[in-house]
Amino acid sequence: MQTLILPADAQGIATACEWLTLGQPVAIPTETVYGLAADARNGEAVARIYAAKGRPSFNPLIVHVPGLAEAERYVHLGDQARLLAEAFWPGPLTMILPLRDDSGIASITTAGLRTLGVRIPSHPAALAILRAFDGPLAAPSANPSGRISATSAAHVADEVTGLGGRIPAVVDAGACSVGVESTIIGWSEAGEPALLRPGGLPAEAIEAVLGCALLRPELNPEAPTSPGQLSSHYAPAVPVRLDAETALPGETYLAFGPGALTLSASRDLTEAAANLFDLLRRADELGRPIAVAPIPEEGLGVAINDRLRRAAAPRP
Ligand code: TXA
Ligand code: MG
Repeated sequence: MQTLILPADAQGIATACEWLTLGQPVAIPTETVYGLAADARNGEAVARIYAAKGRPSFNPLIVHVPGLAEAERYVHLGDQARLLAEAFWPGPLTMILPLRDDSGIASITTAGLRTLGVRIPSHPAALAILRAFDGPLAAPSANPSGRISATSAAHVADEVTGLGGRIPAVVDAGACSVGVESTIIGWSEAGEPALLRPGGLPAEAIEAVLGCALLRPELNPEAPTSPGQLSSHYAPAVPVRLDAETALPGETYLAFGPGALTLSASRDLTEAAANLFDLLRRADELGRPIAVAPIPEEGLGVAINDRLRRAAAPRP
């Protein structure tokens, strides 16, 4: 199969919708990373996402919708979820919410769970595709399972490190502005909000709107966890060493501050997040072990460090 690169114009979007209607997965841009989308109500279409990614089937997928009214067809929003939706949607926030009995979402989408991860992306092309398709799109990041997430159509279409040859099409809208996946929030049995995955929306911003601290599952074993939080993830082919003040002989150095390969020359965490996956890919292509500079553990730095720790974790 040849992977078509479609422009993000009316014709490209119409072609993408034709594939989606046929039950074929299509990669689409979002402000966080490219997603591999399929109709969340069509179990076979969603199965093709898992097959193209080589993803373990116990891992549930996020569903994308164009607006709050559409979200409410699939999930029940509590008061806190509604506050967060008003504050941060469209944008890089995913909320895990109780699935409605009449949702029509295929069980493979949620991997059999009675909850659903939902998000309204802010990328204009993603919203245009969602409106044109007129249905919920399940979309995990558009990379082979366990590999570096894709922040451009070229990453997606790469035949070696991406999904090139495994999917019919990718809609090309250039580089993603946020560059790391959405922040995921869920609620405990007792109704307490929990941070399930740090991401493109800093946890502090969520806490400011809720007026309370989020549970951190890694600090609190009672809190709910996200089944997708496997420790080795986002992995380049070469080894990765973190918190490196300088490179050792033979290593490629990813700087934070001035440097040849830098996440941000001005030490800006937003710029570093947007550059992260592209730089990891470029460093990986050089074939030498990668040493990464220390990144401050604050704001978007929390999501960047989370992805870097997974990239550096022992491989399964
Ligand atoms: O920014 C993003 O979120 C991107 C773009 C494409 O929207 N999507 C993305 O999806 O990162 P994915 O599938 O790579 O990550 C989704 C995470 C997984 O770790 C999964 O386990 C968790 O969300 N998740 C999804 N549904 C869940 C549920 N019902 N309960 C708990 N965790 C869930
Ligand atoms: Mg992913």
